[in-house]
Amino acid sequence: MARRVVYLLACALALLASTLTSAAIVEHSFHVQNLTIQRLCQKRVITAVNGSLPGPRIRVREGDTLVVHVYNLSPYNLTIHWHGIFQLLSGWADGPQYATQCPILPGHSYTYRFTITGQEGTLWWHAHVQWLRATVYGALIIRPRVGRSYPFPKPYREVPIVLGTKVL
Ligand SMILES: *[C@@H]1O[C@H](CO)[C@@H](O)[C@H](O)[C@H]1NC(C)=O
Ligand SMILES: *[C@@H]1O[C@H](CO)[C@@H](O)[C@H](O)[C@H]1NC(C)=O
Ligand SMILES: *[C@@H]1O[C@H](CO)[C@@H](O)[C@H](O)[C@H]1NC(C)=O
Repeated sequence: MARRVVYLLACALALLASTLTSAAIVEHSFHVQNLTIQRLCQKRVITAVNGSLPGPRIRVREGDTLVVHVYNLSPYNLTIHWHGIFQLLSGWADGPQYATQCPILPGHSYTYRFTITGQEGTLWWHAHVQWLRATVYGALIIRPRVGRSYPFPKPYREVPIVLGTKVL
């Protein structure tokens, strides 16, 4: 009997340890600023994250805590929405301006922090301020925890596809 209790205790501890060790804190910085792009021989200034369109691709695992420091170096008010994230007990990190936060003013910064619980797949993040979302967006890829597999055979290759609007 005592041996069985010890065994159960060991199993519970092993399970707890695997849950604790498989979750990480993933931290990124977004520098949102003017970017001059050229399309079809025309130059245009757009607002973009870290000088790229689409913006940086974020990769996390289910259970991870994502921390993103957003530096608004653009001339516009800004918020970032983490599209499709459940935001359990972190509603203030959801992003819609004037719904869960005031906009990040030009020259200011804001840190989004939330834990990704019970979801996997490719989502995306985007500005939640009218037309800024046309160029301020990127992929948010949530892979299963370490040791857990996809609910389908491992693909030969993965290619994230982000569909955006035309900027010219
Ligand atoms: C964005 O750019 C800043 C400044 O160069 C850099 O520190 C940061 O790591 C970049 N973030 C990502 C997600 O690439
Ligand atoms: C960014 O672009 C806007 C719109 O073209 C312009 O008004 C502003 O002066 C630019 N800011 C900087 C720092 O280049
Ligand atoms: C930016 O946000 C501030 C604070 O909420 C607000 O007073 C201001 O009118 C906003 N600017 C624009 C252009 O919407």
